[in-house]
Amino acid sequence: MAETIKRIGILTSGGDCSGLNAVIESVVKSASSKNIQVLGFKMGYDGLLYNDYVLLDNASVRNIGHEGGSILGNSNKTNLFHRRIFQEDGTITYRDDSLIAVKNLQNDSVDALVVVGGDGSMTSARDFARLGVNVVCIPKTIDNDVPYTDKTFGYSTAVERIADALCSIKTTGYSHNRIMVLEVMGRHAGWLALEGGLSGDADIILIPEIPYNIEHITERLIQRYKDGFKSTLICVSEGSHAVDGKVTATVNTKYPDSVKLGGVGTKIAYELEERLKDVTDQEVRCTNLGYVQRGGNTNYSDRILSFRYGSYAVDTIVKKEYGVMVAIRGEKLVTVPLEDVVGNGPMGETSKGGSKNVDEDSDLLRCARSMGVYLGE
Ligand code: F6P
Repeated sequence: MAETIKRIGILTSGGDCSGLNAVIESVVKSASSKNIQVLGFKMGYDGLLYNDYVLLDNASVRNIGHEGGSILGNSNKTNLFHRRIFQEDGTITYRDDSLIAVKNLQNDSVDALVVVGGDGSMTSARDFARLGVNVVCIPKTIDNDVPYTDKTFGYSTAVERIADALCSIKTTGYSHNRIMVLEVMGRHAGWLALEGGLSGDADIILIPEIPYNIEHITERLIQRYKDGFKSTLICVSEGSHAVDGKVTATVNTKYPDSVKLGGVGTKIAYELEERLKDVTDQEVRCTNLGYVQRGGNTNYSDRILSFRYGSYAVDTIVKKEYGVMVAIRGEKLVTVPLEDVVGNGPMGETSKGGSKNVDEDSDLLRCARSMGVYLGE
């Protein structure tokens, strides 16, 4: 282990989100104030494999804090411990290339590595830590489903996008007396739909943690119609499913994360229109908000969280505390062992540890119910 930290690396891995550039800015500025050099590895873990990096200084991160995306690029397909190799005959084989990355880091005299990523990226980070790499992770995802931290950066901006979208959809829904469905991201956690839906004034919010009953939703819509509410706003999480059903997804085995959620909003819209056609004759339309949730300018709250995470990650490295994720609990920044965050499974696994889900007893659910939002039970 190096006596004093002279050089660190940073990479952004997994699906992107707002705030990545703010984290990079914070890491670079905090490191440079301590005379630590920063290498920015490009395209996530691919950068480690190909030793593809740029030297980042204060000038290179000027004015990037508000911008979406990552100046380093993101890859969510690379697991260097179980790397897919496409053979000429079209078959796929797997290889462990992790030691190439470790060698590159040693040759580049990188004393510690900041991995900015979600659960998949942190699983690889855990495995690099097991190989002796000094790793500190920063939790990133719009889904807010990383355990042991109150908030991931990128989430707040995505919630804002959802609320804005609902406000726009609401006015056209009113004009046409339509039922409007908005499908949002979030994988198997309902945070985005719940907070986005609440702040965007949705009448019905469907989340994966509460399987929905389409009959009950239909009854609710008919009642609303009779009560004079001709338009209804429904915010549905992509991971939602019926009480007796499965998630709506497409499967592409070419990718490590082969199950791609999406389409439940369209399915619900179709089912509702079919059920309502002989009763209220209302049209139902669906909008899938998609990648709007991951891009664009980073809001102030995510910028501040990203800055705090970035500077705390550098402080953690200076203290030589490794194999951890930085986390926020209330107003306090803390560290959590990666093995707690993603589990202590075997090297190279693509799966992950726990996911932080909306708790049935949460105050957020209580608030939604008490304000008359219907949760589709
Ligand atoms: O995990 C973030 C996320 O945006 C999910 O909400 C969504 O299901 C997924 O990534 C989409 O991933 P991809 O970029 O592979 O389409």
